[in-house]
Amino acid sequence: MTTNTRATFGSKIGVILATVGCAVGLGNIWRFPYMVGSNGGAAFLLIYVICILLLGLPVMITEFFIGRRSRRNAAGAFKVMAPGTKWSFIGYNGVLAAFLILGFYSVVAGWTLEYIMQAFSGSLSGKTAADFAVEFETFSSGIIRPIGWTIAFIALTHLIIISGVKSGIERASKVMMPVLFFILVALCIRSVTLPDATEGLKFLFHPDFEKITSSVVLSAMGQAFFSLSIGMGCLITYASYFGKETNLQTTALQVTLLDTLVAILAGIMIFPAVFSFHIAPTAGPELVFITLPNVFEQLPLGWLWSFIFFVLLALAALTSTISLHEVATAYVHEEYHMSRKKAAWFVSIGVLVLAVISSLSFGILKEYTIFGLTFFDALDYLTAKIMLPLGGMFICIYVGTRVDRKILKEELTNKSTIPFHFFNTYAFFMKYISPIAIGIIFLNELGIIKWIKGLL
Ligand code: TRP
Repeated sequence: MTTNTRATFGSKIGVILATVGCAVGLGNIWRFPYMVGSNGGAAFLLIYVICILLLGLPVMITEFFIGRRSRRNAAGAFKVMAPGTKWSFIGYNGVLAAFLILGFYSVVAGWTLEYIMQAFSGSLSGKTAADFAVEFETFSSGIIRPIGWTIAFIALTHLIIISGVKSGIERASKVMMPVLFFILVALCIRSVTLPDATEGLKFLFHPDFEKITSSVVLSAMGQAFFSLSIGMGCLITYASYFGKETNLQTTALQVTLLDTLVAILAGIMIFPAVFSFHIAPTAGPELVFITLPNVFEQLPLGWLWSFIFFVLLALAALTSTISLHEVATAYVHEEYHMSRKKAAWFVSIGVLVLAVISSLSFGILKEYTIFGLTFFDALDYLTAKIMLPLGGMFICIYVGTRVDRKILKEELTNKSTIPFHFFNTYAFFMKYISPIAIGIIFLNELGIIKWIKGLL
């Protein structure tokens, strides 16, 4: 495909909604509350917000820069911008990360389909908090149902991918994101008016600084990268479809703010209910799935609420799986000169294999662990906490050291037609603060900083 014929997003609002659709997904509504719950509550939230501003925003702008400048997929972008060098490893890391993320993300996405069916059939009604926990456990550790739903979800993603960029991604995002937002707000209102709701709000917003450990910081950084879809070139691929008049700075800011807002709303929706129904905040990946049915029980026409909610959650997950699939498909398609359709098949089948193993790791493969983590957890850990932050670090190092400032500024200001008041601040953060902070967080987690201190 030549540069000229490359598809672009149709409208300004389409750009923002599609990118928000990519960023907002299970990461905000499933993973964020579970991370907050497992990492001590408000202290995690605080570090998370700092990571979003210090690391997330600069990396996002930088990915947008690379994508629109090169107009290529994640791996191809570096071949265009830095031909003959090794920098394209950033793109390969990204393609691999997309693949691995899909390998566990599709499992959770499949769960949302099961809950849609349960809401519809009325089997979520009339149960206690303990029942919901037991039911989830029985379902997720099974074989046929969770795997069936996961396959269904991958098939859905596959279909949209082969139907083309514009019609698929853009149309889907335009309708769903606003509706999801309103439903979240309504559920937050129900949740904070439950008995003992304040305890949940305290857990979410009143930080206990003693809870900040190196692993909490690493988890918060991982969550920031995961939630914003950065560090692996996903947004490089998206920005390659942006038009030349798209304002990269404001788009990055809007996407970041919306994504963070949705995550915080998800927290407000979950934690008051967690405390009100005496569920353990540390429950892990099932937290959202065992908490929310209790909230729906408290609403008139609860089954309808839960049905609509899980449909929207599935769609939010879909716009994210599309983005991940797109990274891998665009790479195979453009670099191996294979048809888009054929490329998509390769990706889908590979993902399917990973997803089946991930799903089984909640049941019959539970005992098979890698460094003490189940296959599902290992994929999550490897991508969110290692590959994405390292990818982000190298993206910054690449642009910070190899790209002429003039070119960077030219692209970010659309050839000086729009201002970039904080360009120097951005460039400083991108070049120094972000990569150094990521490095320190890693060294800290590995215990190397403590070790050095011990030597002094
Ligand atoms: N950010 C998405 C979510 O929150 C998941 C996702 C989509 C993603 N594309 C990504 C994560 C690229 C990391 C990299 O659900």
